[in-house]
Amino acid sequence: MKHHGFLLVAASLMHTALAHIGIYGVWLNGEFQGDGRNVHVRTPASKINSPVRNPDWTYIACNTLGHREQPAWLEVKAGDTFAPEWFWTERGDFYTGNHKGPLLVYIAPAVSSGPNTPNIWTKLYHYAYNTTDGYWSDDYFRKNAEATKGHHFITIPDIPAGDYLVRSEIITLQEAMNDNGAQHFPSCVQIRVKTKGSAVLPGGVSFPGTYVPLQRGLKWSLATDNPREYPIPGGPVWEGSPGGGIYN
Ligand SMILES: *[C@@H]1O[C@H](CO)[C@@H](O)[C@H](O)[C@H]1NC(C)=O
Repeated sequence: MKHHGFLLVAASLMHTALAHIGIYGVWLNGEFQGDGRNVHVRTPASKINSPVRNPDWTYIACNTLGHREQPAWLEVKAGDTFAPEWFWTERGDFYTGNHKGPLLVYIAPAVSSGPNTPNIWTKLYHYAYNTTDGYWSDDYFRKNAEATKGHHFITIPDIPAGDYLVRSEIITLQEAMNDNGAQHFPSCVQIRVKTKGSAVLPGGVSFPGTYVPLQRGLKWSLATDNPREYPIPGGPVWEGSPGGGIYN
């Protein structure tokens, strides 16, 4: 019994103190595409996403060494539902969002020009706070844990055929009252769009560059700031985005 109790404490500490989360794999139109880590997910060497605390850091785009190409590109077509599955440490240990903050998804043409990417990213989706029910995006992962299973989703836009990176980012704000206290968990998935659309991604977002360390929204007090006024970093969602969401 003693050991059992200790394990429970240890497990809960891992979730709250270390809070290392990442993408395990992707569901395409409801079908799981397998363990994507270091296959089509640009997983950090540790296989776990540690948070990026300084948005000026070289690897804010896709986390540590995230510029390195992985062996596979997930084939998708315009209109597909693309749903990354977030996890803590083991598959099945689905991300349940125990910290409040926004969820953001960006896309960019794949480039192999090193860790710093220029302003090629376009925002496809973001969600922070629902003024009706008072839930942050992370709260939906927990509230609907059985249905959500750590997934959120976007719809693939009708863009030209080619290779792209989809960058999902969970930002947690529990320490954001401190400078560089917001914790960024960016994770990039390699996709190969097979359809030949003509929508032009406007770009305009760079990592690093677009996020400024002390901007309101990255510097933020969950205790004293009004969540109704939360400014989501990274600017507006591209009006051509077919959208996304968190399952609920
Ligand atoms: C906000 O919450 C309300 C009440 O649960 C829900 O009806 C609505 O769809 C939510 N809004 C968004 C944008 O998710």
